[in-house]
Amino acid sequence: MNAASVSTLQASDGGAGVPRHVAIIMDGNGRWAKARHLPRIAGHRRGAEAVRATIRAAGELGIEVLTLYAFSSENWRRPEEEVSDLKGLLRHYLLAELDELANNGVRLKIIGDYRRFGPDLAAMLDNAVARTADNASTTLVIALNYGAQDEIVRAVRALAQDGVAPADIDIPAIAARLDTADLPPLDLLIRTSGERRLSNFLLWQAAYAELLFVDTLWPDFGRDDLFAAVADYGRRDRRFGGL
Ligand code: IPE
Ligand code: IPE
Ligand code: MG
Repeated sequence: MNAASVSTLQASDGGAGVPRHVAIIMDGNGRWAKARHLPRIAGHRRGAEAVRATIRAAGELGIEVLTLYAFSSENWRRPEEEVSDLKGLLRHYLLAELDELANNGVRLKIIGDYRRFGPDLAAMLDNAVARTADNASTTLVIALNYGAQDEIVRAVRALAQDGVAPADIDIPAIAARLDTADLPPLDLLIRTSGERRLSNFLLWQAAYAELLFVDTLWPDFGRDDLFAAVADYGRRDRRFGGL
């Protein structure tokens, strides 16, 4: 699809148009590597390249927020070597990409209990977020040690800490204490690799999101796949319980 098609997507009559907020469960790196008789880390490395292409495509499409599931609160169950490889890759990615992200107007935000990655990585992430805080083109949200159930538990704890009375606990009071408090509603949630589950990702935020499951393994995902996903979204009729 070329640049002209972006306006076609935006102009879709009666359809949902271009989503403001897209989230992706980037799955299938291990299977991509296995099919090539490569170590799993090779799949994760190629996955990082797919991230690059997807961020660029999101910018072209005018998507305001792109949220990427990079490490779940359950991924600690993986062998220590893989966890350590993933941490190394994150560090490498930040060092290699931060300049480009910052110069392209990308605002970085982290969701999840990322401090569990240790003080060094946490400081790098804090620095990257601070450096891009005034950028306004695309917001890139990376979910790190993120689990939706953990996020909701932390929000409920914050309600208690803030001394909110039971009668004052409502949907906005909870939403304001989630990691995603300052983000627009989730419009489209994509999962790659053929799995059809949410794996503890954005459970609250997905309440009325459109879901799209594609068979493509994450390292093979690219610009055309994001354009196709947005076109699919654009043909949907969102009713939000109404008519
Ligand atoms: C997704 O790919 C990346 C992370 C969860 C960090 P996987 O590593 O889950 O790849 P598969 O599902 O084993 O193919
Ligand atoms: C979900 O993928 C987490 C990320 C993509 C970071 P998993 O591969 O961890 O999910 P399950 O274990 O197959 O549900
Ligand atoms: Mg997986």
